[in-house]
Amino acid sequence: MKGFQLDAFFVFYIVTILAFIHTAAGASIKTTELRKGFSATPGQVNSEFELLLADPSGLFAFVFMRVGPTKLDLAVVHLPSSLPVWRAIPANLANWGRSTTFSFDGNLVLTDKSIHEGVLWSSNSTGGDFLVLRNTSNLQICLSSDGNSAVWQSFDQPSDTLVQGQNFTSMTSLITPDRRYSLRIVGSHIALYMEFGGRHEINYWRHSPFGAKGATIYGVVQPLGFFGFYNSDGSKAELLPFDSFDRGYLGFHRVTIQNDGNLHAYFWDNDKWNLVYTAVSEPCGLPGICGAYGLCYPGKPSCFCMINGTDGCLQTDSGDFCSKEYSGFSVLRRSGVTVEYNELMLSVRVQSLEECEKICERNCTCWGALFAKTMNICYLMDYPIQTVEASGDTHQGYFKVRRQGGGDGGERHRAATAAVVIFMLVFAGLAMYGGYWYWDKRRSRSLRLQLAGSSQEMSPIPFKDLRSMST
Ligand SMILES: *[C@@H]1O[C@H](CO)[C@@H](O)[C@H](O)[C@H]1NC(C)=O
Ligand SMILES: *[C@@H]1O[C@H](CO)[C@@H](O)[C@H](O)[C@H]1NC(C)=O
Ligand SMILES: *[C@@H]1O[C@H](CO)[C@@H](O)[C@H](O)[C@H]1NC(C)=O
Ligand SMILES: *[C@@H]1O[C@H](CO)[C@@H](O)[C@H](O)[C@H]1NC(C)=O
Ligand SMILES: *[C@@H]1O[C@H](CO)[C@@H](O)[C@H](O)[C@H]1NC(C)=O
Repeated sequence: MKGFQLDAFFVFYIVTILAFIHTAAGASIKTTELRKGFSATPGQVNSEFELLLADPSGLFAFVFMRVGPTKLDLAVVHLPSSLPVWRAIPANLANWGRSTTFSFDGNLVLTDKSIHEGVLWSSNSTGGDFLVLRNTSNLQICLSSDGNSAVWQSFDQPSDTLVQGQNFTSMTSLITPDRRYSLRIVGSHIALYMEFGGRHEINYWRHSPFGAKGATIYGVVQPLGFFGFYNSDGSKAELLPFDSFDRGYLGFHRVTIQNDGNLHAYFWDNDKWNLVYTAVSEPCGLPGICGAYGLCYPGKPSCFCMINGTDGCLQTDSGDFCSKEYSGFSVLRRSGVTVEYNELMLSVRVQSLEECEKICERNCTCWGALFAKTMNICYLMDYPIQTVEASGDTHQGYFKVRRQGGGDGGERHRAATAAVVIFMLVFAGLAMYGGYWYWDKRRSRSLRLQLAGSSQEMSPIPFKDLRSMST
């Protein structure tokens, strides 16, 4: 026994040393190019990243990145800050384990056999011969015959971050990992959206300074500290300066859409990321900040509810009131509420609050309306009600609330009823079985006792047991 314990300790010791050597080697050997045929599986080392490829400057690496305790994603990270500047974000994340493989067969391919046999994520290009990571953080698939132009690059498929020098066009978008918020170029505007699936979305921020109407533009974050916008012929359209603009520093800048839907720019000063730009400066201007039917007071750090739900404010689903099954609603009226982005909303001129409410009431895609008293404007919400902002008494709010027992609520109610019925049936079954089991046990015990008793010519069985035996 003692020998076995020693052996186990020895094995653990060796494994630890090997793991350490493996990690150290992984960190020091810099692979700067991957050839067609390469494949890798995440190791058992409990690290945040596992390096696959490094850039020549050693500032960025293409890695297996840990997401939560058990999952992984392919990412390009900024090594000094461990911040991912690009992620693949497949619909299903792969497990950090032996079942997962990353391979380069001309394309980047991620599979996890424990999830499904097919491909979890692929770069889907025409295919190339080698993979390199540029010192800009751009991951490129190139052909041997032409090593400088890429058949695929991560810069064309950004996730939530745009780094300096990366083109941002109407073909690309920045999106949060949960796909809730996005930044897009639409015509000559750059805009932030909250997404509800289908055609429902809220446009809550827009920057549209450009002269030529209807022109298409693209944007590039510049090392001098601004978001530059250019016409398709390359001529300058406008620049959006950051706080770091014109300060004489040449640092590394990035623009990131945050998980709360805000857009920030940061500047890396070789030690930390400095916030140099915020698109939505009033937090109450973020539509999801207090959730559905949430109420936000400017300057107050906490959220309130227009309607309480079981856990926080009442939740809404997506969709509208147009199908018969989903058409039922009740109404919540509240004065002194507005939104920061009402000039981006659909609006109509009306004579009265009643007229404004009627427009929304009769239109099945409408979820709510804000009536601006002084201007007689009716702002319409054709998306599930999100956070509104408390403000004076110039606006009157009208909000639809999906009726319990109708539509989705009814669906949920039916599901809950079914679950209760199934539970009761199972419980009743178990109770019956339990009763039978108890009766059976007592009966056999009685029989045993009876047999024992008869062999000893003595009956120790109490009267009531004899009675139960006979039933
Ligand atoms: C690659 O193609 C598949 C199937 O056509 C698609 O589901 C997937 O989203 C594509 N991946 C990328 C990164 O575009
Ligand atoms: C990045 O690489 C290019 C050549 O590809 C080089 O001209 C440039 O100086 C490098 N930049 C840094 C910061 O290493
Ligand atoms: C960005 O777009 C411009 C103009 O279309 C092009 O000249 C440049 O090569 C692009 N840069 C990258 C990194 O793709
Ligand atoms: C919601 O609940 C909070 C505390 O639980 C309470 O203070 C508030 O008045 C409630 N709001 C409504 C609209 O019922
Ligand atoms: C209903 O509202 C939507 C936008 O919320 C609008 O596009 C549509 O034209 C309206 N329909 C009618 C019949 O007014």
